[in-house]
Amino acid sequence: MAKQEDLFKNVVSHAKEYGFIFQSSEIYDGLSAVYDYAQNGVELKKNIRDYWWKSMVQMHENIVGLDSAIFMHPTTWKASGHVDAFNDPLIDNKDSKKRYRADVLIEDYAEKLNQKAQKEIEKARARFGEAFNEQEFVTTNARVMEYLGKKKEILERMARSLETENLADVKALIEELEIADPETGSKNWTEVRQFNLMFGTKLGASADSAMDLYLRPETAQGIFVNFLNVQKTGRMKIPFGIAQTGKAFRNEIVARQFIFRMREFEQMEMQFFVRPGEEMKYYEYWKNTRLNWHLSLGLGKENYRFHDHEKLAHYANAAADIEFNFPFGFKELEGIHSRTDFDLKAHEQFSGKKMQYFDTELNQNYTPYVVETSVGLDRMFLAVFSNSLKEETLEDGSTRTVLQLPSVLAPTKAAVLPLVKKDGLPEVARQIIEDLKWDFNVAYDEKDAVGRRYRRQDALGTPFCITVDHQTLEDQTVTIRHRDSMQQDRVKIEELRSIINSEVSMRNWLMKM
Ligand code: GAP
Repeated sequence: MAKQEDLFKNVVSHAKEYGFIFQSSEIYDGLSAVYDYAQNGVELKKNIRDYWWKSMVQMHENIVGLDSAIFMHPTTWKASGHVDAFNDPLIDNKDSKKRYRADVLIEDYAEKLNQKAQKEIEKARARFGEAFNEQEFVTTNARVMEYLGKKKEILERMARSLETENLADVKALIEELEIADPETGSKNWTEVRQFNLMFGTKLGASADSAMDLYLRPETAQGIFVNFLNVQKTGRMKIPFGIAQTGKAFRNEIVARQFIFRMREFEQMEMQFFVRPGEEMKYYEYWKNTRLNWHLSLGLGKENYRFHDHEKLAHYANAAADIEFNFPFGFKELEGIHSRTDFDLKAHEQFSGKKMQYFDTELNQNYTPYVVETSVGLDRMFLAVFSNSLKEETLEDGSTRTVLQLPSVLAPTKAAVLPLVKKDGLPEVARQIIEDLKWDFNVAYDEKDAVGRRYRRQDALGTPFCITVDHQTLEDQTVTIRHRDSMQQDRVKIEELRSIINSEVSMRNWLMKM
């Protein structure tokens, strides 16, 4: 555990030291759970967004984009159910005065039971080797069955209590399980209360005419209210999707995990409109497609898992998370939700405007069903960044810090380094930059010894360092150093563009999907 905490601390301090993420308004001691993306962070974030956009919009003939406003008519949120139901159950510890999400306390307890079961499974796997049958073991081993059975029972009871608004039972469950304040160990809890997560604001200059508004807590509703506009003007035929990236705002109760849970964050969402009755087929399709998108980045298959929801949001008939192994354990990275026709029907009812589609093949009007994929851009950033940060011991015993970002996402693709600041080498380096910058983000660096410059670029995640030396003046060749292997090859200047391109082009990465 201590090791994990250290890793997470390293992630946070590396993100600051190397210009990826700063705390918002730091000179005023910051604002809790609000962050700014710095010169390198903004590039990494943009590349993740582009990677998502390209795979969703450019690669799918039947998915188009949208950029709807953050402000929406307040009735939107009444219709969507957010005014009444976008709550988290909170509980305070009377001794420590710390506030927690009651459901998260219970889920963490259940996850510990799961971990105990997994430990037994791994022990047995090691004991039985090739002959190990996990399915049989899980259904026959008494201890594993007890752990997993208890976990299921707890989560089901919590889901039932939350669905029926039986908050007294949620508290009773916390007490029965003897769950303590994770920071202080105290079990002195208040009642559980519901807390609405939307931020309110006002539109209009004078107090009389001002209208109460909400900052959107998800980008999805901008898609729903524009469903018919897009369908008609784009002549879209079902099944089709609308994709959007943009800011969302939630007044999170617990926001202590850096950019994992923020109060202002960015989502990348896609609503896929389908015929009623076909939603489960597309739900499975998008679960697999989205997992493959994540896997294409090469962060390790073992770092992802699905978690099917026991407790469904007010709009869903099926939902799963893609969880990622963050430095603090497996947590939700993306949600895939089968949202039924809940949203379109609700908007139809509240606005009085028809939200139906005429299916020419069926010769029939209907309200489409929706399968949604929703991933947090900041969470994606944290997943990629934390997984890539490595402390390596080299053959000579020295260490280096290297950010092994998937090169398609790296903020800077190549740094061009004149070996010395004289003899015409800087001028040649500048010429190389002038040529490469049309295609890639490139950096020029002439300060310090070349070894130190390599280390600096390693820590920034730059996949290539191109060094211009005296031989360059004679034969127009340079050395190109690969960040991960540290191997250096001598190549012609004219080959650089295609070498870099073959490593960083989205085409090559997305083809792995
Ligand atoms: N439209 C559906 C929706 O918003 P969600 O599960 O509440 O579903 C989707 O959110 C994704 O948005 C999450 O999987 C997560 O990646 C991201 N997300 C949600 N709340 C967040 C927060 N407070 N900070 C950062 N990312 C968040």
